[in-house]
Amino acid sequence: MADAGDLELSRRGVLVASAASVAVSAVAAPKAQAQAPDKPSMAKVSFEVNGEPHALELDTRTTLLDALREHLHLTGSKKGCDHGQCGACTVMVGGRRINACLSLAVMHEGDRITTIEGLGSPEHLHPMQAAFVKHDGYQCGYCTPGQICSAVAVLGEIEAGVPSYVSADLTAPSTVTVDELRERMSGNICRCGAYSNIVEAITEVAQAPAAGAQA
Ligand code: FES
Ligand code: FES
Repeated sequence: MADAGDLELSRRGVLVASAASVAVSAVAAPKAQAQAPDKPSMAKVSFEVNGEPHALELDTRTTLLDALREHLHLTGSKKGCDHGQCGACTVMVGGRRINACLSLAVMHEGDRITTIEGLGSPEHLHPMQAAFVKHDGYQCGYCTPGQICSAVAVLGEIEAGVPSYVSADLTAPSTVTVDELRERMSGNICRCGAYSNIVEAITEVAQAPAAGAQA
């Protein structure tokens, strides 16, 4: 059986080995950095944004949000967290909402993308935009483009029979209730707390004749 002295030596040995490995890593790190490629990997991608075709050559690490904002100068879609947690960057791809900050632009070859700029214009607001104005569904407005894109897609989801976490019957069509809207819009955060007015705005659009997604 090992005596206390052996154990002490073993502990020292472990400490020495750990220190040596840290030192080796510290020396090796600059070498690894020096080997990183000088140029980013580029790729071409073509997609349609708000009905307009676009062909871009991008660093493959570019998110769809950065492609829209920095390359196409469509700054309506906002960057809040850049980590998929706030919904400020919500856009629609083929009618389905996504967080543009979590999606690489090069993954969208041939896609049909709709941003807030494609929903309506100051002269001809989309019904959801008009309802947000009518019901004061915003305060600072930073989250609003994402909220509106999400809301339009939510009505499309309900119309298509896609259930949510709070749908009581997964086989029956969902109806537009406050609980459904709150659950489905829960990925869109509003720091100003305009939630009740946002729900009122969406409810009004849902109850209007020929309601639904007009993306
Ligand atoms: Fe995309 Fe926050 S910026 S979810
Ligand atoms: Fe300010 Fe929503 S209106 S964050």
